Amino acid sequence: MISKLGFLLLLGCIGCVLLFFTFIERDLRSQISKTILIHSQRTYEMMGESSGNTRIIIEPSCNATFLIWIVTSYAGDPSTRSALRRAYIDEELQTLGIERVFLLGKLNDDAKRRTHVSQEALLDESRRFSDILQGDFLDTYRNLTYKHLMGLRWAMNNCKHVKYIMKMDDDIVVNIYGLLEKLHTGIIEKNSLAGYVMKNMTPIREPANKWYVSKAEYADNIYPDFVSGWLYITNSQVASKLINYAESYKYFWIDDVFVTGILRKVLYIKIQDISKIFTTDYRYLECCIKGKINLLKCEFLIGPNGGDAELQVKFRKFAKFCHANCFIRAENNLVGKTCVVAYKEPKLHKGVFQINPIKIL
Ligand SMILES: *[C@@H]1O[C@H](CO)[C@@H](O)[C@H](O)[C@H]1NC(C)=O
Ligand SMILES: *[C@@H]1O[C@H](CO)[C@@H](O)[C@H](O)[C@H]1NC(C)=O
Repeated sequence: MISKLGFLLLLGCIGCVLLFFTFIERDLRSQISKTILIHSQRTYEMMGESSGNTRIIIEPSCNATFLIWIVTSYAGDPSTRSALRRAYIDEELQTLGIERVFLLGKLNDDAKRRTHVSQEALLDESRRFSDILQGDFLDTYRNLTYKHLMGLRWAMNNCKHVKYIMKMDDDIVVNIYGLLEKLHTGIIEKNSLAGYVMKNMTPIREPANKWYVSKAEYADNIYPDFVSGWLYITNSQVASKLINYAESYKYFWIDDVFVTGILRKVLYIKIQDISKIFTTDYRYLECCIKGKINLLKCEFLIGPNGGDAELQVKFRKFAKFCHANCFIRAENNLVGKTCVVAYKEPKLHKGVFQINPIKIL
């Protein structure tokens, strides 16, 4: 009898001890996971600071279904944004499944005074057009990478259903209809960065140059192949890889080199060279426009505005008309072959034209 009772007591005790340990363990585990969570959050924030996980001041919504068009733009230059809005109006873009968003930084007091653009004016612009994404960093050359990454991150997080992300500078002229045709025919490769590929570019080591890069900023004497920030096309998968990796990578301020060169290379993301549809001289775009009277299309879909924001409006008018009504040029009649302009050094890469004297024949 006694031994039976003892046995039961013993069993009970074992049960109690087991229960005790289970509780302790569970408690411990939850404590450990909490610590890890806090720790990883902190690491995330710390790394974010180095890579441009910046706070956002003005944020639009994303309604794009096919393509999100992010355009880096200087906060103090509303006229270029205005030209692009007039060239491609929102209603038209919407029917094409496209939304265009301008990427801006903040102006300091000096820049506000110089440009006569206040933060109130930017808020007002955002209220009118709902196309402003403004980050909490100064709008300067050396903060360009923050701007570029902010655009990709926002597009990735907010435009869930888009097939493409297109990044452009606001002084670039583009034939959207021609570009969409390229996209619909599948010429642009999936999961790549398609643009004007820059090879064997070297950092500028002249301290007086605006685009000067010190050895501390970038030690190597050559940049990895990258696509020009003028305009490139990619998708959300590629953008998310770039963004996630940027978090842990040393910041480099020349945005296209950093994002589409340095980060791309370590992630083994493909680049596709579509430089055939680019011209590096705005005067070729003027020749394209002249082809309209002969009902001729133009092989160039993208080029610089040459300092004239209104070229966007004129080129779009030509592009819209010719998309429906013109013929493809014969090989011997391409604008690149028939348009007579004095030779100029291409200005495709930031800073290039600052060191190479412009040659005019
Ligand atoms: C996006 O959709 C929302 C809700 O449908 C609408 O209020 C807003 O104006 C749209 N924005 C743009 C830029 O089309
Ligand atoms: C970049 O932006 C930050 C935040 O506004 C600012 O503190 C910093 O001075 C800017 N860097 C440059 C080089 O302008």
